[in-house]
Amino acid sequence: MKKVLSGILLVAMLCVVGSISRAQDAASGEKTFKAKCAACHGADAAGKPAMKSPSIKGKTADQIQKEISTSPKHASLKSLTADDVKGLAVYLATLK
Ligand code: HEC
Repeated sequence: MKKVLSGILLVAMLCVVGSISRAQDAASGEKTFKAKCAACHGADAAGKPAMKSPSIKGKTADQIQKEISTSPKHASLKSLTADDVKGLAVYLATLK
């Protein structure tokens, strides 16, 4: 019985830790977005017709990684780390 209880406790703790780190990802993603993406994609990531930039709401880390490593528009973004990209994806998912 004790084992079951501590198992439940452990799972509960992991859930709390998991949601905290996601919240941090979203906050750092928002910072990165505002600093590096908002100028072209708009403050709310909805895209800017004048810049011919599409909405990037809800883009996944894979899509972002591929885009910043291939598109000449994103040549200045090659210095973003995998963590930056992950944070961006978490943040963009909150804008859907
Ligand atoms: C200099 C302006 C500019 C900046 C800065 C910029 N983008 Fe873009 N982005 C564009 C344009 C223009 C496109 C349209 C496709 C193309 O030309 O590559 C685009 C396309 C994309 C796409 C593909 C969308 C689709 O539907 O295919 C993604 C994802 C993306 N950008 C993510 C980002 C992220 C994340 C950042 C910040 C880290 C960023 N962009 C910063 C101009 C920019």
